[in-house]
Amino acid sequence: MSLVKHVVVTLLTLLAVALLAYWTLASSGRMDVAADGAHWPITDRVIESIRENSVARQARDITPQLPDLDHEMTLFEAVAGFEDMCAACHTPPGGSPTALSRGLNPSAPDLAESARARSAEELFWVTKYGIRMTGMPAWGPTHSDGELWLQVALITRFPDFADDEYGNLLAAAREAGVEHVHGHGHEHHHEPADAHDHQHHGHDHDGHEGGDRNRDTSL
Ligand code: HEC
Repeated sequence: MSLVKHVVVTLLTLLAVALLAYWTLASSGRMDVAADGAHWPITDRVIESIRENSVARQARDITPQLPDLDHEMTLFEAVAGFEDMCAACHTPPGGSPTALSRGLNPSAPDLAESARARSAEELFWVTKYGIRMTGMPAWGPTHSDGELWLQVALITRFPDFADDEYGNLLAAAREAGVEHVHGHGHEHHHEPADAHDHQHHGHDHDGHEGGDRNRDTSL
């Protein structure tokens, strides 16, 4: 047998043994899927590297559309939205973890740190499309791009928030009657008690820029 054939046969045999060992382990029921357990360090590293590369690649074609949060009502709307959609998992600045957030595996990161580490485009991509097989939902199916950019704009401000700022803003938003609403025909809209038109001011709730992405390989 030539050297090349020898090498090929050896590699194929090793591959077959590895697949058989993996299949035996996977079908034995001995692999732990409990959320209070942990991956092997190598599995963690592989997942992290897949996630980082995937997010970076898919976010690169997105054009940022950050709304101006200097308008008080827009800021209130952003905070009310964060409280409703995100705060149970992502502890806001100065907030305390919830029972839900404590049980998540992988845990939901502190978004002030994510804002330091990630571009607005990456924050938007994850918010819109979610991360499969983690607790991070895709918000794109139920929210317009404008609503999600509003959340991204708020998150990019988190690193500068004083400890009581989020709580104060939320209280002021509630005081002003601003609650989270979203524009896709859901019937559970909460009208503010005094029925002011607080929900829409200027930023585009129906923009769908960055919306269509080419699907890459799924494993
Ligand atoms: C049910 C829990 C849950 C909710 C609700 C949730 N997230 Fe997440 N989020 C997660 C988890 C868990 C991760 C980490 C995923 C991972 O490790 O791959 C995550 C990751 C992220 C990331 C990536 C952070 C980074 O540094 O990689 C962003 C951005 C994000 N979430 C934004 C949001 C926003 C904005 C909302 C609300 C609109 C939200 N999330 C609501 C659980 C949640």
